[in-house]
Amino acid sequence: MADAAGVSRRNLLGAAAAGGLTVGVAGGFGLGRGTADGDGDSIDSSYVPFYGRHQAGIITPAQDRLHFAAFDVTTSSRSELVDLLKTWSQAAAAMATGDPAGHPNKDQNSPPKDTGEAFDLPAASLTITFGFGRSLFDERFGLRRKRPAALEEIPPLPGDELDPEISGGDICVQACADDPQVAFHAVRNLARLGQGVVVMRWCQLGFGRTSKTSSTQQTPRNLMGFKDGTNNITAQQGGDVNRFVWVGNDGPAWMRGGSYLVSRRIRMLIEPWDRTALSEQESIFGRDKYEGAALGQSKEKDRVDLKISDADGKPLIPATAHIRLAAPSTNKNERILRRGYSFTDGFDQVRGQLDAGLFFICFQRDPRKQFVPIQTRLAAKDGLNEYIQHKSSAVFAVAPGARRRGDWVGSGLFS
Ligand code: HEM
Repeated sequence: MADAAGVSRRNLLGAAAAGGLTVGVAGGFGLGRGTADGDGDSIDSSYVPFYGRHQAGIITPAQDRLHFAAFDVTTSSRSELVDLLKTWSQAAAAMATGDPAGHPNKDQNSPPKDTGEAFDLPAASLTITFGFGRSLFDERFGLRRKRPAALEEIPPLPGDELDPEISGGDICVQACADDPQVAFHAVRNLARLGQGVVVMRWCQLGFGRTSKTSSTQQTPRNLMGFKDGTNNITAQQGGDVNRFVWVGNDGPAWMRGGSYLVSRRIRMLIEPWDRTALSEQESIFGRDKYEGAALGQSKEKDRVDLKISDADGKPLIPATAHIRLAAPSTNKNERILRRGYSFTDGFDQVRGQLDAGLFFICFQRDPRKQFVPIQTRLAAKDGLNEYIQHKSSAVFAVAPGARRRGDWVGSGLFS
């Protein structure tokens, strides 16, 4: 399993010997950000292994920055696509350790094999997670029969205002890091390596995590000012991770140990929200704004009690509250792992308002049983709907991890 690891250089070299990791001086290209300090005995501690049973970037601790990109495949050659996936996995593994995407070349007559903007930066916990969209499973590459039943398009839902140009895609790349330049560098270099095989369809930057995926992380706040991620699935909840996140024997063999990613670009109508009374804001989420406690409780982590009511018998957590509608007990005990990011794309000239919100990402074993019913319930009744607009939607099959150097993400799908 990929794990966030605080590793010393010795550990990393040991791991490289055992597992074939690419390491700056030892096995990589000699220009590793992780090894660039030159002191010889410490390596960047912010390193998350790329290789493992599961892809990194799901239950590994959510980093601060996101660069998400969706690509469409332009070649009709299956072998070109396979070669790209191999190249991408190799480059992703190298970049995760802090190495450049390709061997630095001294040839003055050809472009450098890495664009260079991350040479001196730390690994910054970079994770690169690849997913395959439903559209990839058509006749072009002979994948039709391999399409998992769970990889259904998200059906149209009430209140959707989706823009097809920033929805869907054949392949997604989710790059997360604690440094925006490291995440940007990763997507840029993968796009560069993909020239002639894929084109970028859309991308989204995120500047602040809105969830925690480890109990060791503090709960962050979203742009509405509320703590977000309190009741998320964390890596430490192993039983729930296996039950709700990883595909098991119920899925096709090539997806076991993988997951499904759903993304939604959700614009927030920030200005009206900021004019909304505190009591109304708290009723909408069902939690208090400052501590993050569920209404009727005093601490953030106190158990949510949906049955609690006031002296008049009125539920403290209203029927339209976000946490009531999204709660497992309202949704046949289903849960999802949320891993979204706040975004701003500047200013909406038409409305004269900030264009900002939540780029919602979640992982699950089967979106038909998890995201879709939860979102259907939210779309119908959530008090939040007055202040948000769903602008894009996508779903991807996130294959299991590449096990070791030489393996690549998607090898099971194309075997
Ligand atoms: C802009 C949109 C959204 C905002 C601002 C938002 C914010 C929040 C906040 C503040 C909480 C309470 C703290 C927590 O447990 O994390 C929460 C909980 C939750 N949200 Fe959202 N959310 C949004 C969209 C969604 C969507 C689209 C889904 C899924 C379809 C979703 C699913 C959940 C779930 C499952 C919980 C945990 C409920 C529980 O078990 O207590 N949220 N959200």
